[in-house]
Amino acid sequence: MNIFLRFSKLWVQILRQVFFVYKKKILKISYLLFKDKENLKDLINDGYLHFHSKIPLDFLEYLEKKYHKFDNKDVNVVQTNDLDKQDLNQIFEYLKDKNIMGIINSYLGKSLYTYQNQYHYLDNKKSNTSSWQPHHDSKYNRLKVYIWISKNTKESHPIYYLKGDQMRIKTWINYEETRFPDNSKKLDEIWGKPGDVILFDTHGIHSNFKYRIEPRKVIVLTFDPIGIFSRINPFSKRRKEILRFHGGQII
Ligand SMILES: [Fe+2]
Repeated sequence: MNIFLRFSKLWVQILRQVFFVYKKKILKISYLLFKDKENLKDLINDGYLHFHSKIPLDFLEYLEKKYHKFDNKDVNVVQTNDLDKQDLNQIFEYLKDKNIMGIINSYLGKSLYTYQNQYHYLDNKKSNTSSWQPHHDSKYNRLKVYIWISKNTKESHPIYYLKGDQMRIKTWINYEETRFPDNSKKLDEIWGKPGDVILFDTHGIHSNFKYRIEPRKVIVLTFDPIGIFSRINPFSKRRKEILRFHGGQII
């Protein structure tokens, strides 16, 4: 496609990203003097953060018992169960208590939409299609939070992440342009231990072919910013469609 035609089609995409990137760069400068903003600076620089032992193990055992209700023959690489409101609120309380919610707010903004909050199970199958290719989520800068439940070795599928890529301006017209099966750049590999919390910005390239077979159990939460330069714009009609589609909640 002609570059000018492409630019004219994609200027909203670009504007949203430029706005986010420059806001973060200005924030980073203002945080230089504050020691307690180290985590936030790392998230802005790298696109991901790894916190160790933040969620009580007995609570995670309870979640596993309650939500790990799958028939193995139905599981095809991944299977999920939605968390109920009470459990979700308890998780939010832990995240607030450990100041992780504060970091999410500082990175994305005060007004957030949260959805796709699930118990998430990976089985022993291999795959190299769809989400099992390096990709960005085409949802602009938003955060996924992984709470690790299972005891895993390096035989399990890690979170793969291209460090810093969340600040790169991208354009895409279709799904194929969000997948990078031929990626040759080195991706960081992040494995959690039970109770760990890992957050990453899904605008940066993440994931990779799944060739490891040790099953993995995590909780996955999703947070989108609400704002006039965000995908969820309080003044646009499309906002209602997105909210209805996901059925999440504004927090
Ligand atoms: Fe993704």
